Amino acid sequence: MRKSRWTAAAVVLAVVSLDAKAQPVPSKAQPDPATAKFPDFEFLPLPENYHGRVFRLSQQYPADRPGEDRMPEFFKVDFRKDWRTYMMQAREYCFRGNITGVGEDVENGWRVADQDPPRWFHMPWQHYGPNGREGVHGLTREAPVQPQQLAQTQVYQGGQTFAVGFFNEFGGYTIGRVWKDHNNPDVSKASFPNGTVICKLLFVDVPTDQVPSLVHPVQWTAYVPPSYNSSSSTPRVFKKLALIQMDLAARDPQAPTGWVFGTFQYNGALNRPNLWENLVPLGIQWGNDPDVTVNASNPQPVVTKPNPQIKQSIINPDAKELPPTHLGWNGRLDGPVDNPMSSCMSCHSTASVPALVPLNPLFQSNPPAAGSPEWMKWFRNIHCDESFDPSLPIKPTDFSLQLATSIQNFNAWKSLGTALSASEYQAKAGAPERSVPPPSPYQLRINGRVEYKILRDVDR
Ligand code: HEC
Repeated sequence: MRKSRWTAAAVVLAVVSLDAKAQPVPSKAQPDPATAKFPDFEFLPLPENYHGRVFRLSQQYPADRPGEDRMPEFFKVDFRKDWRTYMMQAREYCFRGNITGVGEDVENGWRVADQDPPRWFHMPWQHYGPNGREGVHGLTREAPVQPQQLAQTQVYQGGQTFAVGFFNEFGGYTIGRVWKDHNNPDVSKASFPNGTVICKLLFVDVPTDQVPSLVHPVQWTAYVPPSYNSSSSTPRVFKKLALIQMDLAARDPQAPTGWVFGTFQYNGALNRPNLWENLVPLGIQWGNDPDVTVNASNPQPVVTKPNPQIKQSIINPDAKELPPTHLGWNGRLDGPVDNPMSSCMSCHSTASVPALVPLNPLFQSNPPAAGSPEWMKWFRNIHCDESFDPSLPIKPTDFSLQLATSIQNFNAWKSLGTALSASEYQAKAGAPERSVPPPSPYQLRINGRVEYKILRDVDR
């Protein structure tokens, strides 16, 4: 098995697959895609030093498209008329069989690979790279948390966000089709059927006593870098993380772009007996309000500032239920740990292979002015099967950024020049004598081609 270049020290297991019969990572030495298993995770101490929970990737993707009878009930609700019922029924759909009850260990839920038959699935190839999946809960490192992003009293520097996403059986069916041949992902199959639901749990490592809404927290222990600022060679540590947000994406035929996005924010001050129920609906989004070009954001929220001009997002108006939160650019829907100059649909509309478009107009060297026509390309209502930029050689991945990441990671891994014996290492004609760095810190080079990193945020 080839080792990832990023695997830091001997205390870290490289790519691990836990199935007894499993083949290791797809590699030239293991060419049988039919029996291959995707790696479960990248980071965990050696087994002699660790006896806790171990994450397993749910990867028995359904071979057949689920029938109409499996459509989630909440798709019957008109989200424009009754956004709250839609969100609460969606929450119940995601929680069912996954959350722990009152008095139970909150770490003990979401073991979706153990369900029989499995109802929820993970995206493969999120283990790869310095931010790849850790082995306790399968969390990937996502973004920095800025001081005062969550509350005025939150002064902690170096805060980080971690996340793990779950695809229902409709979504799992598409993952299985794209990744049918583990050595050749087929992006032409990247189209999720109506009925797909994806939910994602997001955690932060900021001290909970600095954030009033993180009292009575849901905490998960995970094997993570000590802080956002630590270098990728710093050994990982076990840290307690607190649940801050749960994202929802639903492939719903009622939605003009194909998808509805929604999010929940944690409010422990409500002190509900089942801690998971402290996740309150923040809002819902079915469009990007392409005509609203005023440049406003609220990155250090004292109060939530909904914008009445915004018509294609609905924000929870109840300030007793929802903690102060920053929202997205000019009041569009965004979560508390998302970039405030963006919105759910803005970022997700860029999802493509190869990633030749940055996720946000600010994630490039010479960003356009906020509100300019160039900027507003990120706030259009393109349909999820449309290309973000038809002049570029890219294929859309149906707004799924995990699917785009999985292929980017796989290609990056495949292109690594780390064949271990010199006899296997043959330079291609025309290859440069030394490796050439990408033109900007927002980019990377894969097989000589420059792509954007699929990032949720950059340092602001
Ligand atoms: C600044 C960019 C950005 C914003 C804003 C953003 N996301 Fe994402 N999202 C990502 C990236 C990158 C991923 C892939 C990595 C991961 O899982 O976090 C992702 C993954 C997801 C997934 C997993 C499914 C998939 O393949 O895309 C869901 C669901 C999701 N986001 C929902 C949301 C919701 C809901 C919002 C708004 C409340 C939101 N996102 C805002 C960048 C963004």
